[in-house]
Amino acid sequence: MKTLIKAGVLLTGAVSIAVLSGCESASATKNEGFKGTLNAVSQTAVAANASSTGFAPLAVIPANPPIPADNKQSDAKVELGKLLFFDPRLGGDASISCASCHDPSQGWAWAEDFSRGYPGTVHWRNSQSIMNSGYYPGSFWANSVTSLEAQAPSAAKGGVAGNGENDIMEARLALIPEYRKRFNEVFGDDFPRIKNAWRAIAAFERTINQTDTPIDRYLAGDKKALSDEQIRGKAVFEGKGGCIQCHNGALASDMEMYNIGVPPAKRWEEDGLAQITFRFELYAKGSNEELYRTAKADPGAYFRGKNKWDLGKFRTPSLRYTMYTAPYMHNGAFYTLDEVVDFYNKGGFDEDNRTTGWPKTKSKLIKPLGLSDDEKADLIAFIESFSGDEILMDKPELPEYAPMFTLEELKEAKK
Ligand code: HEC
Ligand code: HEC
Repeated sequence: MKTLIKAGVLLTGAVSIAVLSGCESASATKNEGFKGTLNAVSQTAVAANASSTGFAPLAVIPANPPIPADNKQSDAKVELGKLLFFDPRLGGDASISCASCHDPSQGWAWAEDFSRGYPGTVHWRNSQSIMNSGYYPGSFWANSVTSLEAQAPSAAKGGVAGNGENDIMEARLALIPEYRKRFNEVFGDDFPRIKNAWRAIAAFERTINQTDTPIDRYLAGDKKALSDEQIRGKAVFEGKGGCIQCHNGALASDMEMYNIGVPPAKRWEEDGLAQITFRFELYAKGSNEELYRTAKADPGAYFRGKNKWDLGKFRTPSLRYTMYTAPYMHNGAFYTLDEVVDFYNKGGFDEDNRTTGWPKTKSKLIKPLGLSDDEKADLIAFIESFSGDEILMDKPELPEYAPMFTLEELKEAKK
């Protein structure tokens, strides 16, 4: 505990110890079996997993992500969600919004190895893009929450992310007449209810999708949609490279968890603030004493059920939109697709021959591939076919605060 308290002091009190946790807050972490909550998209992928080929083929992405029955889309709800996504008043010190770490001009993510954190902190994981996040049956690198409605509050409240408090955020919304009007129209709220803010944000996120990409056009029958190089790359992807074993189905992800050998973040050795976040995350997620003191690598999915066989495992990410979302992997270990492909080609080792901090759980599917330079170039060109044009969005003009009563009205009420 002593180490913990010291670390807390180092944070100059900007973040309280009790609430310090990631975008993924400890309280929101669920250990439920994952397959029980799969949505339609990935159910298809999983069903195909069991087929004779062993995995689902790549597929065209459906036009829209699945919409939960208890949070239907409407234009007004999506418009409200967009304002809230960009509004820093849904955070601790009203300086950081969802869009601060999921910046449309940075691939709807944050273009550094670790995400920026709440002011005064750094995050401990790479910021994921919210592009196509509605198609995922679970959120986060370790897949620890099962809906966007549940993800949003853990982001807004997590100590190194939004670090907000429900009552304060709700009070701020109440002081913005435009929000009172919109929450009333969309949800029938007299005063904006924070739960409905998360539902509106989730509805907005379900509209941030990219469905028009070269691979979709190709799979739909337009054989000219891929270049010759990309078609050769597809053969590597599905053959010698073995990528299809995990990156399959419509999202180019099987939604399973693997330890592919990504080495621990070098930054933890040099950056004190990053090391502090790492230790606190270990603590906040309930590590045992030994893990808390000695872990040098991110335990990943381990926290879901505290099972040793989950150490260092992360969800297979979609390859869609990755042209815009560098750096890659849960800790941003690689800045380019060249580095990623070199890493796989070496069997899960980086340029310094480092590999995972959890060697016992490293996937047997990751082994040296023996790809030639031409095959590597083809493969990279093919990965680029999972991205269409960049999707940008300007920050909307946010509604202003206004006092709820005029001085006259107050005087009147006091009479
Ligand atoms: C301080 C930076 C930061 C802020 C603020 C932030 N996020 Fe995140 N977000 C991240 C990081 C980092 C991750 C990955 C965390 C992890 O896996 O542990 C993430 C993950 C996500 C994911 C999961 C995507 C996937 O592929 O599973 C979604 C969705 C998301 N954030 C939405 C939001 C929303 C909505 C808000 C605002 C309420 C928000 N984020 C605020 C940094 C941030
Ligand atoms: C055993 C399953 C598996 C295989 C095989 C596999 N991957 Fe992955 N891939 C993953 C997982 C899991 C991650 C995330 C790992 C992490 O962050 O620690 C990942 C991450 C990536 C990323 C980074 C995506 C991002 O958003 O950060 C790219 C790009 C990628 N893989 C491409 C490939 C290519 C190309 C191949 C074939 C040479 C391949 N993968 C083979 C499971 C696999």
